[in-house]
Amino acid sequence: MALSNRVVLLCLISMASSSGVPTLKLNNGGKMPAIALGTFLGFDQNGPVKSQNKQLRDVVMEAIEVGYRHFDTAAIYDTEEEIGEAIKLKIKEGAVKREDLFVTTKLWNTHHKRSQVADALKTSLDKLGLDCVDLYLMHWPIGLNKILQEDYTHSSTDFMETWRGLEDAVSLGLAKGIGVSNFNREQLQRVLDEGAVKPVALQIEVHPQISQKELVTFAQSQGLVVMGYSPFGSLVRRFGMMFPGPRIDDPTLVKAAERHGKTTPQVVLRWLVDRNIVPVPKTTNFKRLRENIDIFDFALEKSEIEDIDKFDSKTRFTLPSFWQSHPYYPFEKVENPIADPFVKGQK
Ligand SMILES: NC(=O)c1ccc[n+]([C@@H]2O[C@H](COP(=O)([O-])OP(=O)(O)OC[C@H]3O[C@@H](n4cnc5c(N)ncnc54)[C@H](OP(=O)(O)O)[C@@H]3O)[C@@H](O)[C@H]2O)c1
Repeated sequence: MALSNRVVLLCLISMASSSGVPTLKLNNGGKMPAIALGTFLGFDQNGPVKSQNKQLRDVVMEAIEVGYRHFDTAAIYDTEEEIGEAIKLKIKEGAVKREDLFVTTKLWNTHHKRSQVADALKTSLDKLGLDCVDLYLMHWPIGLNKILQEDYTHSSTDFMETWRGLEDAVSLGLAKGIGVSNFNREQLQRVLDEGAVKPVALQIEVHPQISQKELVTFAQSQGLVVMGYSPFGSLVRRFGMMFPGPRIDDPTLVKAAERHGKTTPQVVLRWLVDRNIVPVPKTTNFKRLRENIDIFDFALEKSEIEDIDKFDSKTRFTLPSFWQSHPYYPFEKVENPIADPFVKGQK
């Protein structure tokens, strides 16, 4: 292991007790396990995929068994209830205690008024069967009005008003820490400048095709932990599509994988870990669940990290261009916006 890697690992990561997964220190005194299981089940031709026959509950139970202690969900994923069931059962079995687990959930865009935030979190907590979450994230800086069951119009609610609502959630003891997701640098700067409570984390898309170097460096320099979603990028088929970019058998990744006796998905997860980013990989496959967490016994060389950095083409897979006329849209705009997959009947 290169010296610089070793120093970074020693400074920022300490070993967690019950699972062997390291933890990262948070600026509120808490500790975040260095990998989170993603629980958004993706899309198919009918829209967002739903868990069938308690599949997700069983995945989360197995995940706890193999060492995952951090679960990433959101009000919009519709997975909070099964995660809650799994946690309850594993605690009842005596496999874990509540304090061993770290649960992250997110506020959906239709509840951005300050007065709506605590109630939205209480609904999530009811589903999770918990008194409080470890981390509550504002899913997007974008507020939406839900005027019909399946229709949205833009709300001009300032995300700083929403942030006050997240701060209320901390005062009420409903969330130990709060943070933001899909914020750009300027938006994060505003939260840092104008907020009364400091965000503990920023969750953004990070994979070889979008390394997010600047935003990661900025957030980390401000004392936030960065969580990286969709970590496998173009390695895997997602939403039934293959995106351009390195595949699972890419020669650069295979070379590093062979050198460390690992798989290429493990190398990519480690590329995030070696940058002190908490990867949020999703799998519902028991074998891949074990594979994805088996990444804490090696580290990439600086040159291997730099080789993977070269894939960066600033390509986002989560690019909700259907919101791009919103005043708080965080990303670059495109010429032909796509339809919203959460709104049925849109073409
Ligand atoms: N904050 C946000 O706005 C936001 C946006 C997107 C995602 N997220 C979070 O990030 C999580 C992960 O993102 P994601 O689901 O988009 O992407 P991902 O974790 O990069 O990729 C998931 C895909 O990779 C496959 N896979 C998992 N492990 C594998 C392995 N070892 N080898 C080969 N294939 C593997 C999975 O299939 P199998 O299940 O069949 O293994 C699934 O199709 C979400 O679940 C969610 O919690 C947050």
